[in-house]
Amino acid sequence: MNAFDLTGRLAVVTGARRGIGRAMARALAEAGADVIGVSASLEESGSEVEKDVTAAGRAFEAIRADFADPDAVRALGAELAARDRPVDILVNNAGTIRRAPAVEHSDADWESVLQVNLSAQFALTRAVGAGMVARGHGKIVFTASLLSFQGGITVPGYTAAKHGVAGLTKALANEWAPHGVNVNAIAPGYIATDNTRALRDDPARSKAILDRIPAARWGNADDLAGATVFLASSAADYVHGAVIPVDGGWLGR
Ligand SMILES: NC(=O)c1ccc[n+]([C@@H]2O[C@H](COP(=O)([O-])OP(=O)(O)OC[C@H]3O[C@@H](n4cnc5c(N)ncnc54)[C@H](OP(=O)(O)O)[C@@H]3O)[C@@H](O)[C@H]2O)c1
Repeated sequence: MNAFDLTGRLAVVTGARRGIGRAMARALAEAGADVIGVSASLEESGSEVEKDVTAAGRAFEAIRADFADPDAVRALGAELAARDRPVDILVNNAGTIRRAPAVEHSDADWESVLQVNLSAQFALTRAVGAGMVARGHGKIVFTASLLSFQGGITVPGYTAAKHGVAGLTKALANEWAPHGVNVNAIAPGYIATDNTRALRDDPARSKAILDRIPAARWGNADDLAGATVFLASSAADYVHGAVIPVDGGWLGR
């Protein structure tokens, strides 16, 4: 099982402060990676994700960056690219959602969701991926969504952004696979995090969702651990441009 060992690797996980990103950071640390966590409000020290990573015996560093601010994303990318210790694994997981019917979906909501969920992902990946291409190896994992495949309900900006993430995954894989860089995505199903709290608080939506999940339960953030470690490891060396659902069977239904 050594192909899954991440000992000595350095992973950057965005949106690491809570939810899916925190679980991904913990999984990578438990597989051996040191972790740089990034999020909008990540504590300089003492965060829950820091405790998870250090409990696994790995080094943790916190970086606070607001992905709604393109300059902050550019600065983050430049800072990571200039470091002596190269980034081996980039997990593009930070994301936000705005729920409103299309006719009420404001330009501000649209632009904010596209900036945080898509444009920031590209800018950061371009900066960090350039070094991976030059070195001839690296693993990039995007967090896509079921709404990379489906339309969703009253989340047009989010759906457009997540379709974009799936397309970007394939576009970058096409360019970077010959250089030894693997670009893939995980499409989580309905996972119990802050992102889906409004759905779980609505009894009708919550029941409708649950009734459609063959696994007959909502996912939890730790359900993404296995796919994350796999795609970050040399076990996935021949996997390029894949968008892998981890959804309790939702898409197969
Ligand atoms: N939950 C689901 O069912 C589900 C399904 C499919 C895809 N996803 C995707 O999974 C990813 C993680 O979502 P989650 O469910 O774990 O949601 P979450 O609990 O709301 O966590 C979102 C994370 O993203 C960070 N973030 C949000 N806006 C940011 C910004 N402007 N700048 C920097 N960081 C920002 C947050 O930072 P702070 O903690 O500092 O605020 C937080 O760490 C997202 O890309 C989401 O679209 C979730």
